[in-house]
Amino acid sequence: MKPTDTLREEHNLELAVTRAAEHEVRFMHDTGECRFEVVETIVDFFHYFTRACHEPKEESLIFARMATRGLPADHGILAELTREHEEFRRRIKEISQWLRDRRAGKTVPVAQLESMLDDYLKLMRAHVSKENDILLPLANQLLTDLDQVEIESVFAALECEQTMVGVREKYNELAHQLANRPTEVLFPMVGHVLSPADQEELTRRYESAEAEEITKGVHDRYFDLAHELAVA
Ligand SMILES: [Fe+2]
Ligand SMILES: [Fe+2]
Repeated sequence: MKPTDTLREEHNLELAVTRAAEHEVRFMHDTGECRFEVVETIVDFFHYFTRACHEPKEESLIFARMATRGLPADHGILAELTREHEEFRRRIKEISQWLRDRRAGKTVPVAQLESMLDDYLKLMRAHVSKENDILLPLANQLLTDLDQVEIESVFAALECEQTMVGVREKYNELAHQLANRPTEVLFPMVGHVLSPADQEELTRRYESAEAEEITKGVHDRYFDLAHELAVA
């Protein structure tokens, strides 16, 4: 499998969780209420999978190699997508802060969460379309066969860490369940897929990680994170 196929698969997973999240946005809009446990699980996915697993693959492996093959990194599509990654991080931080405030018992309006999440999901859909339609075909044109093999071997090494496979399977299952089951049965399933302890641990690790260390695409940090989660 080419690295671009792997990324496309990960995009499918992101879109599945996005669909589930859009369902929650509609629920908030229609009822004025929020199913916090579901939203926290969804936000954990965007923290952990999108930010800590998926974006570093793009930035530090695909974007970086495309830049060495002549595509400018400081303007055009690479700069635009990198800026959007930064935007995701900023927005998910704000959403997380809202959830932390809510957990701490502060009065925070559900409409604010609905609006922040809605904006995030719209950006996610546009971003994934841009990557699928423009970036990945361009990567296949620019990268040499050797580039593809080298990048795929790094992806494979990460996947071999079991964690990545385990986490991906967990979220695949979660996305499938969230997208296909009636909402009344979501709570027990979320609890089944990711225990509260799992969720707390993922959030703790995300919050304690130096944002720059992850997002600058330091492979060692990415690898260590995967390893820590495998052992945890
Ligand atoms: Fe991206
Ligand atoms: Fe992506």
